[in-house]
Amino acid sequence: KRIVILISGSGSNMVNIAEQCANQRIAGLVVAVIANKAGAAGIKKAEALGIDTAVLSHRDFESRESYDQALAALVEEYQPDVVVLAGFMRILTADFVQQFQGRLLNIHPSLLPKYKGLNTHARALENGDTEHGVSVHFVTEELDGGPVVLQAKVPIFPGDTEEELQQRVHEQEYRIYPLVVHWLCTDRLRLTAQGAELDGQLL
Ligand code: GRF
Repeated sequence: KRIVILISGSGSNMVNIAEQCANQRIAGLVVAVIANKAGAAGIKKAEALGIDTAVLSHRDFESRESYDQALAALVEEYQPDVVVLAGFMRILTADFVQQFQGRLLNIHPSLLPKYKGLNTHARALENGDTEHGVSVHFVTEELDGGPVVLQAKVPIFPGDTEEELQQRVHEQEYRIYPLVVHWLCTDRLRLTAQGAELDGQLL
């Protein structure tokens, strides 16, 4: 299956997914990595892995709609079966989401439905939570609100810093995102009107 990954930053999840494709733990091939920022560090990492890259800067567009239309056209050029958001820090329009519905996954660093949006680690610490985690979900029109496919929990220890917590969550991201991408690549996972379905079972 053909995978396109969208990034804005360091792209460590992108690299991890590309590596898992290479060692056949994911039944897919990363055919392109696209960033919305010219300076995204992940672009160089993708190039080093021999993956096609593209930068489509949102600054060159006047509206969210026009950017997302251009982005959708660019993504379609690669004819993806799966589109993976991996630290892609933009809210996508309803049209974009609908165009790729059922093929579009995101990873969000919280135990959804808790802490949608930004600064999840800081918010978990501020609230004195004793556990935190990460969620992989189908993308729908509601921000960080699509059906959750898989979550991993991590403990929060007294005195944890935001960086320590982020690091602990990242380790779990590298475990769970490849699994879900593999499930989608092997047609075990589907988005239905009722929600996410794995092997015919509603999650
Ligand atoms: C991850 O924490 C992910 O959960 C969030 O953005 C971060 C991306 O990190 N959506 P990286 O670019 O994959 O290193």
